[in-house]
Amino acid sequence: MRTLRSARMSDVTYEIRGPLLRLAQQLERDGEKVVKLNIGDPAAFGVPVPPEVVDAARAGVADSTGYGDAQGLLPAREAIAADYARKGLSGVTPADVFLGNGVSELVSMALQALLDPGDQVLVPAPDYPLWTAATTLAGGEPVHYLCDEGAGWQPDLADLSAKITDRTRAVVIINPNNPTGAVWPREALERITTLAGAHGLVVMADEIYDEILYDGVVHVPAATLAPDLPCLTFGGLSKRYRVPGFRCGWMAISGPRTLTADYAEALETLACLRLCPNVVAQHAVPAALRDTASIRALTAPGGRLAEQRDRCWELLTAIPGVSCVKPQGSFYAFPRLDPRVHPLADDGRFALDLLREEKVLIVQGSGLGWPRHDHFRIVTLPPVGDLGEAAARIARFLERRPALTS
Ligand SMILES: Cc1ncc(COP(=O)(O)O)c(C=O)c1O
Repeated sequence: MRTLRSARMSDVTYEIRGPLLRLAQQLERDGEKVVKLNIGDPAAFGVPVPPEVVDAARAGVADSTGYGDAQGLLPAREAIAADYARKGLSGVTPADVFLGNGVSELVSMALQALLDPGDQVLVPAPDYPLWTAATTLAGGEPVHYLCDEGAGWQPDLADLSAKITDRTRAVVIINPNNPTGAVWPREALERITTLAGAHGLVVMADEIYDEILYDGVVHVPAATLAPDLPCLTFGGLSKRYRVPGFRCGWMAISGPRTLTADYAEALETLACLRLCPNVVAQHAVPAALRDTASIRALTAPGGRLAEQRDRCWELLTAIPGVSCVKPQGSFYAFPRLDPRVHPLADDGRFALDLLREEKVLIVQGSGLGWPRHDHFRIVTLPPVGDLGEAAARIARFLERRPALTS
């Protein structure tokens, strides 16, 4: 009998909520305490939410019973355009902004509107796997360019350049990065946008972590370096404002309108097809964007997110055979297991055994587009005490069972 599942789905995965999470949930139902380090949800770890963001959504409920504008409520789009102007992206008007049910929905829309079958999209490796999956679902082919761990996980520009073909339509930048925590400097971004310009590529900049920065590092919005190119910049309430459950994200189109007008029209059609994004959450956007202080307090030295990032990195790198580039942004760490000390044939098996034996849930590097079996990702969101417990369990597992992981 013919399978009900489309052939397209055979290449689509999302390990962050994959079979390991289902096993973790089963273990919890069986009464085990599982340390879940798999998902970047600040609310799940009690990271405080700005009260005015919640209040604004609450105040908007009565006005949210009907469908809203397909692109998003005008006050929300005005606030987003003003926020981008503040960050140097001056050409963005409210008409260039699309709101969605999280960046997740908008990534799919952006790629569906862009790609014909067989078109290629350059996606960083490692990546947040939504980009790979959404490219495949839109009929395109994700082509991964490497990031260089030895250079602080900056993009390997020679590799990126070598992978551009006449089918390449777009280059994806995830900055600050999930899963590595890297923040790419202006020079690297300039070299990517120069390549994009030379080959007629759309720049897709996923900057949802744009103000989650440590050690005084500066984030440069990619689109500010490429006023002559079609760029899409993605942001949202999920990370910086710590309300992922609101499902509220946005994207802004910039670049010469002669190049973007057709594409924007296709996006408008897709926006209409889904009628509108969740209306309640959009009422929170202006209030959220007025608050620039609370994320700085969390990421400044002594702030909760900064302390957890520091502690997590110290704990991981104290484990024999584990190294880690210190994250400069976002809230993830992507440690490496030295293959001479902890050889892994299958990092998915490693993650499974770690979960079964020590009840710690991580995401294996290969589930995040990394081509070798020698990395895993954890979130740096748990309080310091919980991070200590998690690191102790990982260390115990690695020490006890080196043979199991080979
Ligand atoms: C790089 C990146 N982009 C997009 C998303 C999805 O965000 P949203 O909650 O807005 O759908 C995530 C979520 O973890 C992410 O890490």
